[in-house]
Amino acid sequence: MSDISTITHDVLIIGSGLAGLRAAISAAAVDRKLTIGVISKVQVMRSHSVSAEGGTAAVLYEEEGDNQESHIYDTIKGSDFLADQDVAELLVKSMPYEVYQLDHWGMPWSRRKDGRIAQRKFGGYSFPRATFAQDKVGFYEMQTLYDTCQKYDNIHFYNEWFCTSILHEKDTFQGVTAIEMKTGNFYVFKAPAGIICAGGAGRIYSFSTYAFSSTPDGLDMAYRAGLALKDMEFVQFHPTGILPSGILITEGARGEGGYLINNKGERFMQKYAPGKLELAPRDVVSRSMIREIQEGSGFKHETGVDCLKLDLTHLGGERVKEVLAGIREIGIKFSGVDIINEPIEVRPVCHYMMGGIHANIDGATEMAGLWAAGEAACNSTHGANRLGANSTSECIVWGKITGELAARYASGKKVDSINRKQVLEEEKRIYDGLFRGRGSVNPYEVRKQLTDMMDENAYVFRNEQGLVAALEKVRELKAAAWKHVDDKAKEYNTNFINVMETDSMLRTAEVLLVGALNRRESRGAHSRTDFSYRDDENFLKHTLAYFTGNGGPKMTWYPVTFTRYAPVERKY
Ligand code: FUM
Repeated sequence: MSDISTITHDVLIIGSGLAGLRAAISAAAVDRKLTIGVISKVQVMRSHSVSAEGGTAAVLYEEEGDNQESHIYDTIKGSDFLADQDVAELLVKSMPYEVYQLDHWGMPWSRRKDGRIAQRKFGGYSFPRATFAQDKVGFYEMQTLYDTCQKYDNIHFYNEWFCTSILHEKDTFQGVTAIEMKTGNFYVFKAPAGIICAGGAGRIYSFSTYAFSSTPDGLDMAYRAGLALKDMEFVQFHPTGILPSGILITEGARGEGGYLINNKGERFMQKYAPGKLELAPRDVVSRSMIREIQEGSGFKHETGVDCLKLDLTHLGGERVKEVLAGIREIGIKFSGVDIINEPIEVRPVCHYMMGGIHANIDGATEMAGLWAAGEAACNSTHGANRLGANSTSECIVWGKITGELAARYASGKKVDSINRKQVLEEEKRIYDGLFRGRGSVNPYEVRKQLTDMMDENAYVFRNEQGLVAALEKVRELKAAAWKHVDDKAKEYNTNFINVMETDSMLRTAEVLLVGALNRRESRGAHSRTDFSYRDDENFLKHTLAYFTGNGGPKMTWYPVTFTRYAPVERKY
């Protein structure tokens, strides 16, 4: 292995989105003598977190009636009682400090007239607590955190490096293998501590708000290393993706007073959630939209796709330009609609994965020395359905927690020798398996078939027949897929990266579908037409999936932590 280049750090962070950057700052601040390596397959400001639009949830104004217990309860009720309640509590209690910390680092929060930080309404909350910066929250948070990273000369960025596997000796983390995309060279990164912050898996759907780079490489790497993926069947479909692209129109648009209307001009949410209307949680609104479409009350987009309309025309041009300028521009450029003048066509779109790498309240995974944070992690903050604006909060809170814990763990430790057998096997898997492999299957076609099929069979409503058909198709594609790359070049080989990504998408989709089949109930974002009720007796528990090689996941269950609220019927 002497011929394989090795880079050594104290803490490795995989992913450079909000969780990754917050973790880097937190780890770097523990001790400036520790070195922190941040490895990302994209340039930092291209991480998907920059696309977060509408808000970051926190209780800021208790003197005006808001309170932390209400945020905790809203989160737990929103989760359809699958959230771990101690975790939801930690999120809520940590967030106010983090909003002001970002403010002090330069975050340009939108302001009230009196100069205090502004908050808007978001779905499923009892108070306006989505803290915002126009409709570009993620972009400004990323910029603020990236700026702050520059203050630490012990943070080292490896942009456009693709991590391929986790190195470990038994159950102890040792580092990762990665490919420098610019050269195509294979490297070992050694570190006693690591944090996976590589985001979610949303690109396993075609109609998706995610960046095209949001493939589940980080999740899959953990899964292949023997760590459980938890609750992967819970996929969030955000009510307002525009057509045909799927780009997000922020929930902030409804928070500002926007209506959803059907083809009779009715605000149909009155039927489904009379107490909250368009500001019911996303699972409720998305199901209502699909029901309207099924009852013939939808519109047809010019592409033939069914949709509803989001009407913002009554908000007035000035307000739109002040706080929703980003989505106005998106509407004009990608749908040809100026939301100031006319309603825009929208449809539920894949937006977030409640599941991820099984982690505890501290973000610790089942491997010593390895943590997970942000969307890649499932510490069960969101249970079966996340409330909008709680995700950027989660990234910030667990970025901070895991960064500090990983740095403290790494202090005084080093990795003496790496698991050589694993490194050689990984090199062989990639170079012999792909570069010297043979085959004629087109990997882009495999990806397209997979993502279209997920749109079709694992969308807002699911049933046994569709899920079984999807699982068979995934297994067929899996058998065909990992064969070769046409482009044998080393430098910036996007063909190769595509095959690697598609491989991870197929395994993750398989876990999602098996989880969805096993969960014979409807809870939160997982709605089965053949098991249409929540079944607390049999399914008030988390799903865990373990890798078994090529035989499909081994599934098991894990208890939910209850500290304060017993499940009740969820009404809005
Ligand atoms: O609608 C939005 O702005 C999305 C926010 C979120 O997913 O938290």
